Amino acid sequence: MIGRLNHVAIAVPDLDTATAQYRDTLGCEVSEPQTLPEHGVTVVFVMLPNTKIELLLPYGEDSPIASYLAKNPAGGIHHVCYEVDDILAARDKLKADGLRVLGSGEPKIGAHGKPVLFLHPKDMNGTLVELEQV
Ligand code: CO
Repeated sequence: MIGRLNHVAIAVPDLDTATAQYRDTLGCEVSEPQTLPEHGVTVVFVMLPNTKIELLLPYGEDSPIASYLAKNPAGGIHHVCYEVDDILAARDKLKADGLRVLGSGEPKIGAHGKPVLFLHPKDMNGTLVELEQV
């Protein structure tokens, strides 16, 4: 059911510094910053040969990233994203197996214009997991 690793998301306290590090020090191709108000983030995509890194900066009043950065002021890995072919089928299977889906349980459109859902970290070995339909 789970396909490729689509991205690893890293919360950062300073998006410009983090972007410059990936671009200039690590030699990666990086995107322009993109603000996603409905997700409460500004994101920069770092392209790697086999996956992507998403650098996340809080945006707005109740960003889900703000509390994470309050606990991890230097930044840290916020979530991993796995690809699925059919997000509703995946959701129903995972819920039937006892995993909790965050929010309303209905997919939202994510940073790549595709439907996404998040699974409760307590049900996934302490890791926030995003599913993206590709
Ligand atoms: Co993500």
